[in-house]
Amino acid sequence: MDFTTSSKLGSPSPWAVFDAWGAGADINSALTPEEELCLEPDAVRIPFSIVDGTNLPTETEILTSYDKLMKRRSSIHLGYPYNLMYNHEELHPFMKYSINNLGDPFVPSNYGVHSRQFEVSVIDFFAKLWGATPGEYWGYVTTCGTEGNLHGILLARECHPTGILYSSKETHYSIFKAARYYRMDAKSIPTLPMGEIDYEALEKTLSENKDRPAIINVNIGTTVKGAIDDLDRILRILKNQGFTRDRFHIHCDGALFAMMMPFIDHAPKLSFEKPIDSIAVSGHKMLGCPMPCGIALTRKEHVKKVEMKIDYLNSVDTTIMGSRNGQAALYLWYSLRKKGFEGIKKEVNQCLVTAGYMRDKLNEAGLTCRLNDLSCTVVLERPMCDQFIKKWQLACEGDIAHVVVMPNVTEEKIDVFVAEYLAVVDELGRMPPQDETSPLAQLSSPSWGGKIGAQAINPNPPKDVC
Ligand SMILES: Cc1ncc(COP(=O)(O)O)c(C=O)c1O
Repeated sequence: MDFTTSSKLGSPSPWAVFDAWGAGADINSALTPEEELCLEPDAVRIPFSIVDGTNLPTETEILTSYDKLMKRRSSIHLGYPYNLMYNHEELHPFMKYSINNLGDPFVPSNYGVHSRQFEVSVIDFFAKLWGATPGEYWGYVTTCGTEGNLHGILLARECHPTGILYSSKETHYSIFKAARYYRMDAKSIPTLPMGEIDYEALEKTLSENKDRPAIINVNIGTTVKGAIDDLDRILRILKNQGFTRDRFHIHCDGALFAMMMPFIDHAPKLSFEKPIDSIAVSGHKMLGCPMPCGIALTRKEHVKKVEMKIDYLNSVDTTIMGSRNGQAALYLWYSLRKKGFEGIKKEVNQCLVTAGYMRDKLNEAGLTCRLNDLSCTVVLERPMCDQFIKKWQLACEGDIAHVVVMPNVTEEKIDVFVAEYLAVVDELGRMPPQDETSPLAQLSSPSWGGKIGAQAINPNPPKDVC
C-alpha cells in the first residue's frame, strides 16, 4: 500500500498513520534479554575461523534482533531532526545496484551506473524553491549537511582568499571546522538569548575589520534552539558598514530550516534573488531519507573557481567527495516527486503546530520550555534522569535539552513523553540553571518572551542522579 502519494493527502496526514518502520504513533516493545544478547559485541564479532565462529548466533538471528531494536528506537526518538515517516519501498529493488554519481552532476562520467538525471532534477527543484535564476546555479547531492557547509565555505574562501569568516557562537560545529580545515580567520559572534546572532556585536566586529572581505555564515536554524538569523538585517548591516557586493560572501546553513521556511506562509524569504552565495540543507532531516544526505546549491560562477578536469573520470571535479551516493539522489527525487510541494507544506505546518502543542503542555505543567518563531525545535529543561534522556534520545547541551518535532512525532507520543517527563520531575526534581549565563538561564530571559522562569541557580549542580 502506498502511503505517500499526494492524492491521499487527507486529514489526518497519511504519513501520520504509516508505521512500517516503527515511526508512527505506536511505541514498539523493547528487546528481550535473549534478543539483546544477539547484539552484544561478542555475538556480532566476525570470526577468523569456523572454530572461532562456533556458538555464535546466526546472521539471521542477529538481524532479526537488530530489526526489532531499530523499530523500537525509531518509535521513541525525539531529539534529532530526522523525519522518520517515509516509505521508499518502491525503491528497494534498486538497492542491488552500485549507483555512484562520481564526478560532477552535470558532466556525465564514463561510469554508467548512476542516477545523475535524478540528481539534476533534485537540484533543479531546490534551485526553484530558493529563487535561483535558471542557467546561473550549480549544486549537487552531498553526503550530509556538513558536506554542504564544507563546500559552501570552501567556495567562499576561493572567492575571497583574504576574507574573515563570521558566524554566531551557536553555529553548528561544521562551520568552524571548515574554517580550521581551510586555515581561514574566523570570528565567533555572541548570540541573543533565543539563539540568533547578536546583530550589534556583528556590526561592531565588521566595523573593526572593514579592510578585509566578509564571509558570513547565516544560520537558517541553529542546531540547539532552532533560531533563524535575520538575513535581511545582516544584509542591511553589511550595507551600513560599506561592504559592497564584491566584498562579501554569504553562506546559509539551512540544515533543517531551509527545507521548511519556503513552505511556511509569510516566513522571510530565503532566496538567491538576494545577494547570497550558497545554501546547504540536509536531505535526511525535514524531507526524510533512510541514509544521511544533503543538497548544496551555489552560483555557477563560484564553482568554476574549484573545477578541475579529471581524465580518469571523464568528468570534472567540483565536489568534496569523489564517489557519491547515487542511491541518495534517487531517494530524494522519489520523496520530492511523491509528496510534491503541497505534501511537504502539509508536513512542515503539522510540525509547527505539534511543536506548539508540546511547548504549551510543558509550560502549563510549570516547566521552562521555549519555541522560536518558525521553529519546530522545542527547548526544555534538561531532565534529571540520564536513562530517560537515552530512552527518548534527547539532544542535550549543558542544562537544556531539546525535542525536534518531525512529521513522525504525534501529539499522542508527546503526551506519553510529557507524562514520563513529569514523573521524572516528581521523583528527582528539576534541573536548576548551572549559572547565570547557562543555556537554561538564557531560556528564562524575558527577551525570549516567557513568563515561566527556571528555578534559582544551584551553586552545586547535581551530577546525574539516575
Ligand atoms: C544547523 C546545522 N547545520 C549543519 C548540520 C549538519 O548536518 P548533517 O548532520 O546533515 O551533517 C546540523 C545538524 O544537525 C545543523 O543543525
